[in-house]
Amino acid sequence: NESYLEGEKPLPIPPILKDENPDPDKAEFNLVAQKGSMEFLEGKKTDTFGYNGDYLGPVIRVKKGEDVSIKIKNELGEATTVHWHGLEVDGEQDGGPHSGIQPGTTWNPKFTIEQPAATLWYHPHLIHKTGEHVYKGLAGLFIIDDEVTEKLDLPKDYGVNDIPLIVQDKQLDVNGQIDYNLSMHDVMMGLQGDTIMVNGAIDPYVEVPKGKVRLRLLNGSNARIYEFRLSNGQAFYQIGTDGGLLEKPVEMNKLVLSSGERAELIVDFSTFKEGETVELTDQGTPFMKFVVSDNKKSGPSEIPDRLAEISEVDPSTAVKTREFVMQGMGRNVSINGKQMDMDRIDEEIKLHDTEIWEISNEAMGMMGMNHGMAHPFHSHGTQFLILDRDGNPPPANEAGWKDTILVMPGEKVRVIATFNHKGLFMYHCHILEHEDYGMMGQFKVD
Ligand code: C2O
Ligand code: CU
Ligand code: CU
Repeated sequence: NESYLEGEKPLPIPPILKDENPDPDKAEFNLVAQKGSMEFLEGKKTDTFGYNGDYLGPVIRVKKGEDVSIKIKNELGEATTVHWHGLEVDGEQDGGPHSGIQPGTTWNPKFTIEQPAATLWYHPHLIHKTGEHVYKGLAGLFIIDDEVTEKLDLPKDYGVNDIPLIVQDKQLDVNGQIDYNLSMHDVMMGLQGDTIMVNGAIDPYVEVPKGKVRLRLLNGSNARIYEFRLSNGQAFYQIGTDGGLLEKPVEMNKLVLSSGERAELIVDFSTFKEGETVELTDQGTPFMKFVVSDNKKSGPSEIPDRLAEISEVDPSTAVKTREFVMQGMGRNVSINGKQMDMDRIDEEIKLHDTEIWEISNEAMGMMGMNHGMAHPFHSHGTQFLILDRDGNPPPANEAGWKDTILVMPGEKVRVIATFNHKGLFMYHCHILEHEDYGMMGQFKVD
């Protein structure tokens, strides 16, 4: 804990990747997965991975309806994949463990954007290697815009009043290196570092205008579950979940975000004076700072009270209910008693079917107490709506599209989804060490 570079570092804002296709209805992007080097600890070089740079990757920004082509060149010197987390595309374009990109080769998925505006992300998904690749820096945001959202009076000046925050924790050894040799504790709990980084910086600050500011939060950590608050206790509004905007803003004092989840928030800085600061905290520990500046073009003073239209999926249209039980610990984590097998298809779903999934986290109960740990359940290929948590309607800030759902020990969550894309997809715990140790299964939509 000696000499982390901290304090007066401006928040890096990931650039928006250039669209190489002049046609407004088409987009073409180039990504290179490459080795990099960062100075996280003063005077020490850390070997990292990044897309088109040393650490993390640019924002891929697309519009609903657009035909997208992405070329990903692998210059890591080892195999990887790129998965579009939250994107509804066919299995062949999804970038799961079957879509390995060998060193020196290029993968070129093509798909059309069919879902509403949302803050998604991309990251590797190679079997047994996802945790290590993400931890070294391979992750980026994938933002979808649509006409509905463009008409809303929300903060939308990227990097000014619409700010991406990729939150990750990191553990560095005495030489400043990322040590991905897992201890027994890391295997059990997932790898948790002692330092929180935002967009690759430790304890950064960002200047924000007066008025309303939108934060696009991604928990890009391997395992840590955050409990975010503002240091002054001020309330904020959640306007979006994993898969898009909520129907209306939800006022909150704290936000719990597990690995893989996203949330869009609105924070009101309109009563702040020039130079006044407030910190973002996790479990009470500050890890980044907002500094209010008169030099920044101020955001809207009000936010709309109607956001997106979320069409309910009627549970009576579900043709099937499937159960997913997350069990075990350490190297024995499993779903429905099985560990991931690339050659086994666990569930078969008919194209365009609506199903209810009952996801439970088997408590290791002793004397009426729920032991065990919380697991964020994630599925590829679709977005869900939560029907209930232990029989109760979901909290208002979860009443929107979700692809990653935190399930507490002993809890049962029912979700509903329609499967409109064919191919082979994964479902898994988004604690990446659990995923890598086999807490993952495959379903085929046909
Ligand atoms: Cu974010 Cu299957 O992954
Ligand atoms: Cu995913
Ligand atoms: Cu887990």
